[in-house]
Amino acid sequence: MCGIVGYLGKKNTKEILLEGLKELEYRGYDSAGIAILQENGFNSFKAVGKLVNLEEKTKDFITDTFAAGIGHTRWATHGKPTELNAHPHLGQSSYVVHNGIIENYAKLKKELMREGVVFLSQTDTEVIVHQFEKNLKSSSDAFEAFAKTVKELEGAFAILLVTKDEKNTIFFAKQGSPMLVGINSENEKYFASSDTPLIGHCTEVNYFEDGEYGYVTSDEIVIVDKIGNNRQPVFSKLSQNKLSAQKDGYRFFMEKEIYEQSTVIADTLMGRLGSEEVLFDELDAELFHGINEIKLCACGTSYHSALSATYLFERYSKIKTSVEIASEFRYRNPIMSKDTLFIVISQSGETADTLETLKMAKEAGLKTLVICNVDNSSMVRLADASILTRAGIEKGVASTKAFATQIAVFWMLSLYVAKLRNSLDANEIAKQITLLREVPASLKVTDSMHEKIKRLSKRYLHGHGFFFIGRDIFFPLALEGALKLKEISYLHAEGYPSGEMKHGPIALADPELFTIALLPQHMLYEKSKSNVEELSARDSTICAISPIEFDKADDFIQISTYSDYMLEFFEMMIVLQLLSLEISVRLGNDVDMPRNLAKSVTVE
Ligand code: G6P
Repeated sequence: MCGIVGYLGKKNTKEILLEGLKELEYRGYDSAGIAILQENGFNSFKAVGKLVNLEEKTKDFITDTFAAGIGHTRWATHGKPTELNAHPHLGQSSYVVHNGIIENYAKLKKELMREGVVFLSQTDTEVIVHQFEKNLKSSSDAFEAFAKTVKELEGAFAILLVTKDEKNTIFFAKQGSPMLVGINSENEKYFASSDTPLIGHCTEVNYFEDGEYGYVTSDEIVIVDKIGNNRQPVFSKLSQNKLSAQKDGYRFFMEKEIYEQSTVIADTLMGRLGSEEVLFDELDAELFHGINEIKLCACGTSYHSALSATYLFERYSKIKTSVEIASEFRYRNPIMSKDTLFIVISQSGETADTLETLKMAKEAGLKTLVICNVDNSSMVRLADASILTRAGIEKGVASTKAFATQIAVFWMLSLYVAKLRNSLDANEIAKQITLLREVPASLKVTDSMHEKIKRLSKRYLHGHGFFFIGRDIFFPLALEGALKLKEISYLHAEGYPSGEMKHGPIALADPELFTIALLPQHMLYEKSKSNVEELSARDSTICAISPIEFDKADDFIQISTYSDYMLEFFEMMIVLQLLSLEISVRLGNDVDMPRNLAKSVTVE
């Protein structure tokens, strides 16, 4: 997602900012920009696309005097990835960069526009700089105006602001998005939204806490904490290992991405949950007019989320829904009728088979929608409409957070369609929305859960196969659990509907057949339990995952108790991801880059 850098000092500010942004490239972005305040005023540059475009634009610009500079890589959330929407955003005499989402931006913007402020971008960020300049008029100095502004903002943010009114100063604020400042013996100050850009420049760093704001000059760092007290910076030594910094201390990107899910899902939900309805600003209700059926198409993990979506669309939107594997759909001369909404799902937006099915649907005159993680990808450009999953860049080849965000989008979309079709009463939609708000909490990885799975994983390193079993929407989750294990452990695993085991696979049951059983309390518990008992009676080794104690299991992983099956779904998903991860680690495999696999498959 977005990245921030800042620099205050005498060195080549332009180079330092560009280098810093390069270190944040791995997070993914679609535009970038810098603003530098020197004695003779501001210079600002922005470019869409990769950083080379920004480098090209700044190649004749030289910074060789003391300067305050800020830079940003943007991953579009509000407004397309255009140059106008790229950060830094300009007011009359100040620039701002921001990560996160200002939830009350619409209200602030309306008020500012009423007062005559002209907005250049579609972003939520631009309100910060205008609000600051408005406050400047009634404040004794720039810091007072900045403090007032920060208190007026709601949502999640990490902000850097520079203003002509207070040269040689960078103002900062942090609420919910990471931000740190680094120092060295040369009195320079470096800001960034994660460690990596500071490595090699700083020896010590101070991490800001939520609710803090303040400013830095060459001589001081002023920090006001969330209850309004000044606090001294607390410096810690900066690790000098860049790869480990990118992994935020986790052993693998996959592990980091599993832990990140709670936060990224909060981004996926942000601005999309009203009190009584789901809001997708990016959709026109017209897309659903005349639609009597939904057809979903995808590959790999995205196919599993599509399969999960069929349960949600039929259950909540009461609309006939089917799903297809893209590579199959392509060549089987499918019948496509115009009252079908064709939805493709893809993390990358580039998977060749899925892209081809989208083209086929367009050619057949169907309305199309893509659920995707990468703005401006081929599928996003081609489809009639798109919903971005906002998972941030996913580096582990085995997909985790992309899957979680896809499921969250489908859950929201099924309620959005339910409202349009009047298929669910208002109270039920409101109840579902309350449940959606609980998803980030259900995705938190606890130390005890991770420890337990780590310990237990040593019993599952061999055997002649794994069956992951579940019913209803827990069947696609079982498929996804089996796929995760296959991808990174190279052990044979299959996902199966629990009720179907007796029609063949149960013949394999013996102590060396490992069954990973999903037993949610709120979805067909008794029926699933009987299916597991049948396997247990035939001596299959069972690892049960459930909120309810299950004494027929050899191993038992207890999840929290929830009021709804979808929250159980998300916590079980975490358990399955961690189980695969720990088995793969014990087998000594390359977790992030498993053999024979690619992150984005752009060939047939
Ligand atoms: C590859 C990846 C999978 C992914 C699949 C579909 O096989 O290794 O993790 O699920 O492609 O990718 P997409 O980008 O379309 O979701």
